Amino acid sequence: MFQQLQQQLAVSRLHKSKSLTFVDLGSGDGRLVFRAARQGIFSTSIGYEINPILHAVGQSRRLLQAPKYWHSTQFYWRDIWKVDLQQADVVAVYGLGPIMEPLGVKLRDELKPGSIVVSNVFSIPGWKPEGTSRHGTYVYVVPDELNEHNKNNHKKDEEAHTSNHGS
Ligand SMILES: C[S@@+](CC[C@H](N)C(=O)[O-])C[C@H]1O[C@@H](n2cnc3c(N)ncnc32)[C@H](O)[C@@H]1O
Repeated sequence: MFQQLQQQLAVSRLHKSKSLTFVDLGSGDGRLVFRAARQGIFSTSIGYEINPILHAVGQSRRLLQAPKYWHSTQFYWRDIWKVDLQQADVVAVYGLGPIMEPLGVKLRDELKPGSIVVSNVFSIPGWKPEGTSRHGTYVYVVPDELNEHNKNNHKKDEEAHTSNHGS
């Protein structure tokens, strides 16, 4: 997953940023958050987890490994649907089929254009991946709203032009 992510970061507008934030939505025991911290590309790696026991495991790991990842990791016992994602640059999701559609809406509403989403196993309906891997990882880049808007308007103009001047 991180290899794919590094490749995407290298060609993205984020690659010059010195303070990238990684977020794992549903961070379980925190392993992905620590793997992200070890990459050395994120200033902060955050895990949100709803299960209090798993959250406590992540927090304990953080304590046990202190001070190594103390400043670069954070864990919150929180429902992902109540988390504001505006500050995230890279988001990892490992959701289940039925939540992928509403999750896609939340990600599109809250993430900055250019942010990267890595989804494990499940694709996000209606999103076009930049890349996929044989392990079932989908990498997406949040589109630039203005470009999307212009593209849609351009398409509508073309359609109107064709129907006015068409056969
Ligand atoms: C498949 S695990 C992925 C764990 C971790 N991201 C990893 O890759 O190792 C999904 C996790 O999402 C958590 N989860 C499910 N719904 C959640 C919610 N609404 N808010 C926060 N965490 C949630 C589950 O408790 C579980 O730990």
